Amino acid sequence: MKKIIAVDGPAGAGKSTVSKIAAARLGYTYIDTGAMYRAVALKVLLDGQPLSEELVDNIKIELDEAARVYLDGRNVTTEIRTPEVSRGASDVAKFGFVRKKLTELQRQMAARGSVIMDGRDIGTQVLPNADLKIFLTASVEERARRRFEELRAKGSAANLAQITEEIKLRDKQDSEREIAPLAIAEDAVPVDSTHMTIDEVVAEILRLATTTEK
Ligand code: DC
Repeated sequence: MKKIIAVDGPAGAGKSTVSKIAAARLGYTYIDTGAMYRAVALKVLLDGQPLSEELVDNIKIELDEAARVYLDGRNVTTEIRTPEVSRGASDVAKFGFVRKKLTELQRQMAARGSVIMDGRDIGTQVLPNADLKIFLTASVEERARRRFEELRAKGSAANLAQITEEIKLRDKQDSEREIAPLAIAEDAVPVDSTHMTIDEVVAEILRLATTTEK
């Protein structure tokens, strides 16, 4: 059984949805590293101060077993999901001192064992020795459509063209930044979910987690 599983991929590929379900089925802890970058971005927005090493040194980010996110002790699980925080997270993620601090925290969390961790650089930087690395993608159109449907289901106003542009911008920023850009690890298994259901992607992760070949 593979105990440390890394799931990377672009925004909206469904990483957190499938990772959460797969972790529950395996009895593993799910760690959403994007939520940690989002928490830093939220802190910058709330403080109204520019991002600084001091701000990052003093930040307290915690994730609980239900994947709730706490910023300085306060539950911010819903607050970190706005488009403003999404943009902010991609912005703060460019800075080496932010990545260093969050990477350390993520490694400490993974050291407890039996985890599925999702993000952009888990297989390449955070956990290069992961037992299984998955690179989950889907076409930009499909990723935008899923976000659009998700927002509509929540009753929020959504504009497909605008969501598509936001996803393209985040793809560009996340893949072109200098430090730890979104990239597929050499030993990652690519999974294109464009024409797959959530159940099919989960089944594929479980199959890969339980087969013996590396
Ligand atoms: O997965 P997400 O959309 O919640 O991530 C928000 C942003 O955080 C994403 O645009 C880039 C950044 N991020 C990162 O740089 N490295 C990670 N391991 C996870 C997220």
